[in-house]
Amino acid sequence: MLGWKGLSRRAGIDPIVVEKLGTVAAHRLAPAWPRIRRCASARQTIVLLVLGFVSWFVFVQLSIFSSAWTAPLAFIGVPGYGPAPKRMTSAYNTLPPLAAPIPCYGARGKLLSDSYDDRMEETSLNIPYPTTFTGSYEAVGLDMTWTTAEDRYAAYGYGEKRESYNRTKVQWDKVDWGALQNECFERNEQRFPSAAKKFDDPLETLRLGFRNRTRIPVVRHWHEFNQTQRTALVVRCWRGYNFQPEDMYYLRSLITETSLHSGGEYQVILLVDMRESPENIFASKAAYEKGLHAAGIPPELRSIAVLWDEHLLQSWYRDIDEHRTMWQVYQPMQLLALHYPEFDHFWQLELDMRFTGHTGHYLTALSTTARSEPRKQALERSLFPYMPSRLPSPSPLAFFSAVNATSLGSSLAWGPIPIPELPPIGPVPPVPDPRADPFSWGVGEDADVIVTSFCANASAADSWVFRDWIGGLRAGVATPRFFCPPAVTRTSRALMLVAHEAQVRRAVRVPSEATPVSFALWHGLKMSFPQGPVFFRREGDEEFEEAWWRGGPEKGRKDGGVGPVVVEHPSGDGLSFWWGGDWPRRIFDAWQGEEEREEEWPWVLRREGGRVWAPNMMVHPMKRREGEPAGSRP
Ligand SMILES: *[C@@H]1O[C@H](CO)[C@@H](O)[C@H](O)[C@H]1NC(C)=O
Ligand SMILES: *[C@@H]1O[C@H](CO)[C@@H](O)[C@H](O)[C@H]1NC(C)=O
Ligand SMILES: *[C@@H]1O[C@H](CO)[C@@H](O)[C@H](O)[C@H]1NC(C)=O
Ligand SMILES: *[C@@H]1O[C@H](CO)[C@@H](O)[C@H](O)[C@H]1NC(C)=O
Ligand SMILES: *[C@@H]1O[C@H](CO)[C@@H](O)[C@H](O)[C@H]1NC(C)=O
Repeated sequence: MLGWKGLSRRAGIDPIVVEKLGTVAAHRLAPAWPRIRRCASARQTIVLLVLGFVSWFVFVQLSIFSSAWTAPLAFIGVPGYGPAPKRMTSAYNTLPPLAAPIPCYGARGKLLSDSYDDRMEETSLNIPYPTTFTGSYEAVGLDMTWTTAEDRYAAYGYGEKRESYNRTKVQWDKVDWGALQNECFERNEQRFPSAAKKFDDPLETLRLGFRNRTRIPVVRHWHEFNQTQRTALVVRCWRGYNFQPEDMYYLRSLITETSLHSGGEYQVILLVDMRESPENIFASKAAYEKGLHAAGIPPELRSIAVLWDEHLLQSWYRDIDEHRTMWQVYQPMQLLALHYPEFDHFWQLELDMRFTGHTGHYLTALSTTARSEPRKQALERSLFPYMPSRLPSPSPLAFFSAVNATSLGSSLAWGPIPIPELPPIGPVPPVPDPRADPFSWGVGEDADVIVTSFCANASAADSWVFRDWIGGLRAGVATPRFFCPPAVTRTSRALMLVAHEAQVRRAVRVPSEATPVSFALWHGLKMSFPQGPVFFRREGDEEFEEAWWRGGPEKGRKDGGVGPVVVEHPSGDGLSFWWGGDWPRRIFDAWQGEEEREEEWPWVLRREGGRVWAPNMMVHPMKRREGEPAGSRP
């Protein structure tokens, strides 16, 4: 088994320091205590205690907490920032299911439960479903339904200018998506724990503000908050973003199918990057309102828009030089979690992603799968693509077994992978040796981070441009860390609060794509990569499959490391979900009836009954065609 000791040795951290800290971290102090007592006389104990207190006192007085020397102090708290956070138990994230939702009103002022006009339509067709490249429907419990662009988006305005549009037309500018979501939450409020609150209009409350004017503590801990069982869906956009009809269909469907259909379990928020705004947008209601106007946020979305800017990040994270998205996309999210702790989880979604099926069903399938996944080997499973066709049996279970076999029944992340500077908050494992756990730890526990694509060992990713970008940790590039692009993730309040704390106190930084998973591993928080369906541009391209498979779990690293023998994989261009590439755009255009040359027709689509059908999937990124704004079609 590769324990934290082996890992620290490889990471170049002094094994003795780590051993001490790790011992404390793993709560092994209790059994060790009688032995220590036997060895030390009472006098020696007193002398040690006094010495310990004096050195602690000196550190406090000098307040040299940024020095590496005080790292061990992290375990008893850092001067100026209060005591260290507590350790969690798995019970914190193991919550009873909520009662069934009470129907809510939609954009047409009708109850969604009996309004045909507000409904999106999914259909079961009696035709074979396309074969996934990685992931599967079974693995995440997703329906194999089909949609046409019209059935999927007509409720949200798609095709409303056509003669044939037979749904009630909506004056979208008069819709207030913030009010609709709040009304829905209030109808459902008694289903939620008492800590759940509606999302008040950011313009009325102005919760965000510079650190030197803040009305909340600079650091907050997970244990200061009770769970609310509400999840924020945070869509990132920026000042001057040119909202196209297609974006609006997407956002309206997102709000309706997540927040409104679930009776308030979700809340959609638009997180608006004002960039280098010349004025302090947080100074007053008037300044903020001016900002909203300058940002060009459509009226229907104003009440869910939370503005932030470069100055806000500089003010909170003043010891970190880099705030740009590629490096620190989670900084605004961390501040959102700090200021809006009434959400347990925060999905970071992009404006250029789409769900061809029901969005709420898709996101809930991911979180349900993550919840039922064991903690053991979760990291290992995230490093291998689950390719049903390459396994002895296509089932998700065969994938689990293959990863278990290559891991020799062990698990790299078993409790925290300790970092001397960061006192871990995650639960202590129920058994010290992961091999003794029958894949039960973590089952039923909500994940602190859900990623949407493969992870890799950041230290070994030679072609990853951010490989050596790390700061605030003594071990530097030797620090164990993993990354999972793209930054479409769900992160818990607890995780965002510890990332925030580490950045504020010690300027700990890793690139965006490494932030959630690395912090989760260092803290021993639960991670999950539910491998949903992903398609590739060329059906059954064995060479491409082989290159991504990299020997698979069977040939996985056997030298105590984790993941495939070959870390590098081909470009993800041509995948239906990735951080780059134009295939999602082509799928979308063909689905909407745009002419495509026959040889470029996206094979995952089907023509049936004179209509074009798309399988149920999440696609990203939706690049705009050159010279043509996306969604210019009716
Ligand atoms: C509206 O039109 C769609 C096809 O465009 C049709 O399937 C549906 O039945 C129509 N609904 C009504 C109420 O006429
Ligand atoms: C959390 O809930 C418990 C039990 O209901 C209550 O005693 C406690 O005050 C709550 N804590 C916070 C921070 O709301
Ligand atoms: C507070 O911080 C902001 C941003 O860092 C700065 O522009 C402003 O001058 C500061 N205000 C005071 C009173 O220090
Ligand atoms: C996992 O692997 C270990 C070691 O090879 C083996 O003993 C155990 O039975 C496996 N567990 C499952 C559920 O496959
Ligand atoms: C991560 O990669 C580094 C550099 O290749 C290697 O030394 C380390 O063993 C790897 N970590 C794991 C857990 O595989």
